[in-house]
Amino acid sequence: MSAAPQNAPTETARWSKSGWRARPRVQMPDYPDQAALARVEAQLAQYPPLVFAGEVRRLKGELAKAARGEAFLLQGGDCAESFAEFSADTIRDTFKVMLQMAVVLTYGAKVPVVKVGRMAGQFAKPRSAPTETVEGVELPSYRGDIVNEIDFTPEARAPKPEKMLQAYTQAAASLNLLRAFSTGGFADIHRVHAWTTGFAAEDKAQAYRDVSNRIADALDFMQAAGLDADNIEALASVDFYTSHEALLLEYEEALCRVDSTSGLPVAGSGHMIWIGDRTRQPDGAHVEFARGVQNPVGLKCGPSMETEDLKRLMATLNPDNEAGRLTLISRFGAGKVAEHLPRLIETVRSEGADVVWVCDPMHGNTIKSATGYKTRPFERVLSEVREFFACHREAGTIPGGVHFEMTGQDVTECTGGLQAVSDENLSDRYHTACDPRLNATQSLELAFLVAEELSQRRDAARAVV
Ligand code: PEP
Ligand code: CO
Repeated sequence: MSAAPQNAPTETARWSKSGWRARPRVQMPDYPDQAALARVEAQLAQYPPLVFAGEVRRLKGELAKAARGEAFLLQGGDCAESFAEFSADTIRDTFKVMLQMAVVLTYGAKVPVVKVGRMAGQFAKPRSAPTETVEGVELPSYRGDIVNEIDFTPEARAPKPEKMLQAYTQAAASLNLLRAFSTGGFADIHRVHAWTTGFAAEDKAQAYRDVSNRIADALDFMQAAGLDADNIEALASVDFYTSHEALLLEYEEALCRVDSTSGLPVAGSGHMIWIGDRTRQPDGAHVEFARGVQNPVGLKCGPSMETEDLKRLMATLNPDNEAGRLTLISRFGAGKVAEHLPRLIETVRSEGADVVWVCDPMHGNTIKSATGYKTRPFERVLSEVREFFACHREAGTIPGGVHFEMTGQDVTECTGGLQAVSDENLSDRYHTACDPRLNATQSLELAFLVAEELSQRRDAARAVV
């Protein structure tokens, strides 16, 4: 731990898991049936937590390494998990693409990759407007499967607290499978070739095969030299963590638990939680909840993030300047990074704050296609990633990770990439319940770009030494 940030008021007020209820809340549903809500909350409060304090602490330690450039964060998954698309295959394929991306990144960066899914809890969504009007009919907006349903009928759009129980059950089943994949042999690095997805565009598939061949050679060498016996366990499994936006605070409060080791509160809903760009008001309910739990916390930073707000948020969310506690996830949009990121970097530096710098190249690059679909041009996604690395090179600060909306499925939601998805192709396989995701091929292509940027960082660091 280093010194607390200077010049910022330190939030030391007492905290309780329900304290957020006294603060202004935004982006949360008004449940018409309060008695049903209370019943669901009581039930959830009795259920076991989904994650455990020791895992949460371990992730914080990994993120502290990412802040120092000794590890790199790969955070990815659905924009919104859906009840309808829930299946073992979907989870397996996203997990597999993340393993592939991590292999490519580790190979480029030569540091461990910390794998964090937007999974097993990423159900609630902030919306640009509280209601939606279609042909003169106004209904509440869809806020994610944990709140209501996407169909445009009054019945479907009414928020129902029971959906929190279904979300919990799905999150528990997802985590169970992820834990099995992580430790049950699937993620064994010796199977690096088997993670290849069938439909990667040929030249990236070949590049992936080249990387995996080199890894396989290195493993053969280690075995021949008798070197892998001690490390066999480490190579046969991975650590895989979960994360989501802590938006639906009734759900978060109900799953909050006291860690018996430290006596401190932990969000039991996922390993890492983040605060969205629309809910980061320094005096608001979401910041109030997040400040009291021990989990690593992400903070989305869009173009409207003011210097003074960032100072207050850092002082409130990480008063002791604990390494790995706070991750700043910037999402400005291609062409806007140079305008905004340097001032945030300067603020962090002037406060002496310890943060992990992460790039989300998705949320600042959403547009409406000519064919009417919400999409993200892959070129703009790549561009924002490049701009992020360039800014950190210029400032001499450490890019600590990336945050993507992606899926292992072969969807057509973002345009461009090697498969050249066009505006006309978007309707072919457009399945997202919310924002457009990168498909498996686009994800791998992006991983190669990030790996290239990271190897430049490594070479630059070597040149300094
Ligand atoms: C998200 O990550 O799904 C999201 C809504 O992001 P942001 O808060 O950055 O807009
Ligand atoms: Co999104």
